[in-house]
Amino acid sequence: MKITQTQNKKVKPDFSKLGFGKYFTDHMMMMTYSNGAWNEPEIKPYSPVPMDPCTNVLHYGQGIFEGMKAYKTPEGKITMFRAYDNLKRMNKSAARLCMPEIDIDLVMDCLKKLLTIDEDWIPTAPGTALYIRPFMIANDAALGVHAAHNYIFFIILSPVGSYYAHGLQPTKILIEEEYVRAPLGGTGECKCMGNYAASLFAGEMAAKKGYDQVLWLDGKEHKYVEEVGAMNIFFVIDGVVVTPALVGSILHGVTRRSVIEVLQKDGYKVEERRISTDEIVQAHKEGRLNEVFGSGTAAVISPVGVLNFRGEDLVINNNEMGAVSKHAYERITSIQNGTAPDEFGWVIKVN
Ligand code: COI
Repeated sequence: MKITQTQNKKVKPDFSKLGFGKYFTDHMMMMTYSNGAWNEPEIKPYSPVPMDPCTNVLHYGQGIFEGMKAYKTPEGKITMFRAYDNLKRMNKSAARLCMPEIDIDLVMDCLKKLLTIDEDWIPTAPGTALYIRPFMIANDAALGVHAAHNYIFFIILSPVGSYYAHGLQPTKILIEEEYVRAPLGGTGECKCMGNYAASLFAGEMAAKKGYDQVLWLDGKEHKYVEEVGAMNIFFVIDGVVVTPALVGSILHGVTRRSVIEVLQKDGYKVEERRISTDEIVQAHKEGRLNEVFGSGTAAVISPVGVLNFRGEDLVINNNEMGAVSKHAYERITSIQNGTAPDEFGWVIKVN
């Protein structure tokens, strides 16, 4: 691996006002793919990437990404949370988008080095972390519509606070019945750029009405709950934790899996199955919809206080974070930030 360190370190932002994905560290990792193989990876100063205007990712969106987080333990050690799972998922996304797989061990070595070089950028206050964004783009300078022959893989790092501006305050989510995120057979299961571009229109319309995000329904009947744009979704109905089964159009969330594993271990009943909007509305009407929350790397555990369905606001748990959401949040974040034992073997030691 080639390493070039910057001579001009950036002035760091105020770590108490980070928001999400606004600041980037001093270095990045980059690795090109050509002639059927990945070339030597490089760590270098964070910088713009010159691109031919006809580069195919700019036209046809052949690009994928991931998101994971690094932390500093109270003892000052750098750790990551379940990062192998994200890189494995990235290889699944790569296969679906006709892109080359990465060598996970090699990338992990580079990432550890990158984190060590930029370790001063890891925030330590509660609710903060260093967000890791690996991504891969098609890099052929040509307009034909086919899988590219050249690619670039990057990792950039961003110190972050909470994903939503209002932190752990419950979000307002609109159930979207007209537009869909991903039909069966589409790319919904993978983390490709186009999935997010396709979600923007409904997201903007929801934002205009005062909602933070939309809850997507299935692409066929527009009836079964799938996920929220930046997170998977959980419902607590009659004390049972229910989340949509991974039917092929839903992202296999690493935090989603962690929530299921923690809650099951702690004695909660968790079901992965189809959930219809009728069931949610009925449960709410009968006072049985105890809690709703989202899960994601960026969002961590994010309570939902209002679900809007067909113009009506269903207020959940008095618009407060509920006991199950709190339990999941505390269990997962304490393992992540090293204040609780790593009983599931999720923490990766960097140094
Ligand atoms: C993540 O949680 O890491 C995501 O990628 C969601 C979003 C920021 C796109």
